[in-house]
Amino acid sequence: MGSVKALSGVIRKKKCRRPLIITDPGIRKLGLLRGLEKALREAGLSYRIYDQTVANPTTDNVAEATYLYRKAGCDCLIGFGGGSSMDCAKAVGASIANPGKPLEKMKGILRVRRRLPLLIAVPTTAGTGSETTLAAVITDAKTRHKYAINDFPLIPRYAVLDPGVTLGLPPFITATTGMDALTHAVEAYIGNSTTYGTRQDALMAVKLIFENIDRAYENGRDVKARRNMLLASFYAGCGCRCGGAGYAS
Ligand SMILES: NC(=O)c1ccc[n+]([C@@H]2O[C@H](COP(=O)([O-])OP(=O)(O)OC[C@H]3O[C@@H](n4cnc5c(N)ncnc54)[C@H](O)[C@@H]3O)[C@@H](O)[C@H]2O)c1
Repeated sequence: MGSVKALSGVIRKKKCRRPLIITDPGIRKLGLLRGLEKALREAGLSYRIYDQTVANPTTDNVAEATYLYRKAGCDCLIGFGGGSSMDCAKAVGASIANPGKPLEKMKGILRVRRRLPLLIAVPTTAGTGSETTLAAVITDAKTRHKYAINDFPLIPRYAVLDPGVTLGLPPFITATTGMDALTHAVEAYIGNSTTYGTRQDALMAVKLIFENIDRAYENGRDVKARRNMLLASFYAGCGCRCGGAGYAS
């Protein structure tokens, strides 16, 4: 609980000074960023916020946030939200690392190649596991074509699993995002690239989801259930990072 406040120390340790926080309007309105903003201010770090990410983030979102990053002289990224905000932050990182290269050209596997600026992910749903996967799922704003960019540099260097930011997640989103994590775990277990390690991660995730999803759904403020759902989503993400997903996801 409250671990999000430790981020200012990480940012300073990495010799960064001006993070761009990427989030969505709902999260901003709910005040979920307050703890992080306070910690950044107290550490003397100035920051910018891009809060226009839509569900299924678009190429326009990525272009706008990339523009803000450059204009404000930012030097690191914090994806704060569900998969949409985290994926948007990952794609911004890929654009910064590959100036002039359209996102479309990074679609598929191993086409980012370059090291991203420091990328930190704070999931507020549990979830997509995007805080540990090598994927960013982006929708072309014009054609509505949705595609994944998959490459190792997209794995966030830090993932902050703070149950405090998930306590207000409504029951419906708790249930649907929990099913996303369960699907990742099952796919990681049965996929063609499954290994002993991915199966261990998958089993851990399934166990945690079965033991906690009802509790998190019934009582959103159950910190232990929220913490375990975040862990489950993370393990499912680790499993599907190596084992792959695709059958249902
Ligand atoms: N990169 C990956 O590995 C990966 C894996 C699976 C899915 N995805 C992508 O992730 C996206 C979906 O992400 P998602 O399911 O987390 O949803 P989301 O990020 O689209 O958020 C859904 C809604 O929940 C709200 N919300 C988020 N956290 C909240 C909180 N703590 N309290 C109250 N409201 C909150 C948001 O404001 C938003 O309205 C899709 O674009 C999908 O393609 C990515």
